Amino acid sequence: MGIQVLYDNKSYTVREKETVLDCLLREGQNIPHSCKAGSCQSCLMKMVDGEIPEISQQGLKPTFKQMKLFLSCQCYPKADINVQLPNDSGLSVQAKILEKSLLSSNVLKVRLHLLEDFEYLAGQYITITNNEQVVRCYSIANQTKKDRNIDLHVRLLPDGKMSSWLQDVAQIGDEVKVRGPAGDCFYFANGKIDNPILLIGTGTGLSPLYGILLDALENGHTGDIKLYHGALKEADLYFIGELNKIAAKYSNFTYVPCVLRGEEGNFYKTGNIEDIVLSALPEDKNNTKVYLCGAPELVNSLKVKVFLAGFSNNNIYSDAFLPSKE
Ligand SMILES: Cc1cc2nc3c(=O)[nH]c(=O)nc-3n(C[C@H](O)[C@H](O)[C@H](O)COP(=O)(O)OP(=O)(O)OC[C@H]3O[C@@H](n4cnc5c(N)ncnc54)[C@H](O)[C@@H]3O)c2cc1C
Ligand code: FES
Repeated sequence: MGIQVLYDNKSYTVREKETVLDCLLREGQNIPHSCKAGSCQSCLMKMVDGEIPEISQQGLKPTFKQMKLFLSCQCYPKADINVQLPNDSGLSVQAKILEKSLLSSNVLKVRLHLLEDFEYLAGQYITITNNEQVVRCYSIANQTKKDRNIDLHVRLLPDGKMSSWLQDVAQIGDEVKVRGPAGDCFYFANGKIDNPILLIGTGTGLSPLYGILLDALENGHTGDIKLYHGALKEADLYFIGELNKIAAKYSNFTYVPCVLRGEEGNFYKTGNIEDIVLSALPEDKNNTKVYLCGAPELVNSLKVKVFLAGFSNNNIYSDAFLPSKE
């Protein structure tokens, strides 16, 4: 008999190279999950008895670790374990939908109002669950404030379970469950407010970058901040007015919109955002902080290329918007 997972008074055998989540799903158990990549924290479980592999607690808050919580999608048990779904209290807070508005034809801004205190930093991400038990991650686009409001930029996907629900079904005042925050894409300068910052993203990858930009400026950052925002076509760019206004007010901020299928001679740069970024990297490779957000292919590719160009891995922060693997 192989390694056993005891859940809900039943015992299941874990197959070779199988996670606890996949084992329980295979056995027909209804375990919440989304990314299956260790990002969204929707698959949190509690270890009642047994050893927790370190990797399955990566990125969890210290309090979660103390509560013996772990990510079941990252857990490959080495011996028999006894697990349960955690009690929601202390893990999630309720939030009301306060506003919805279109930022472009395919980006919806959603403002949530959290019903309890919730500490976060602009640029981190939260995991929301709606009343249909759909779970998705969204990055925090607004400055770190104490008003309990959180702005999300949601890309509208045809038949997207969460994005369609937010656009077509959800009403102002409806509640969602919010878990998190998570992620290390946020502004921190450690007193070095004159170091350069490079913000790079496509589509709604702008969301965390916008939050980071606002936080940096609010904190009096004096170093050069350059934001590259990539889109497939001109109509997919959004927040152009807001970003131009910020650029007019702060001489250390440069906004570089990039359009893959654009026309030369416009207000944006035309071509592949990767080539555009790599052709004009800052000279101060030791001190520049680089933030990469959005489409996983771009984030993963640029992470390697920026590192190979001489930037320190310790200064590269990224959030790949991995799709759900329900
Ligand atoms: C850390 C993190 C942060 C994120 N932050 C944001 C954010 O700030 N804003 C945001 O809009 N999204 C963000 N995402 C992605 C988000 O969590 C959802 O995956 C996305 O909104 C799609 O959900 P959906 O329910 O609308 O579509 P789904 O029902 O999941 O998908 C509908 C269909 O679209 C396809 N699909 C899913 N994603 C993509 C894609 N990127 N490109 C093409 N096809 C796709 C699916 O395969 C499926 O066929 C983030 C993801 C992660 C992991
Ligand atoms: S972290 Fe496990 S499903 Fe997302």
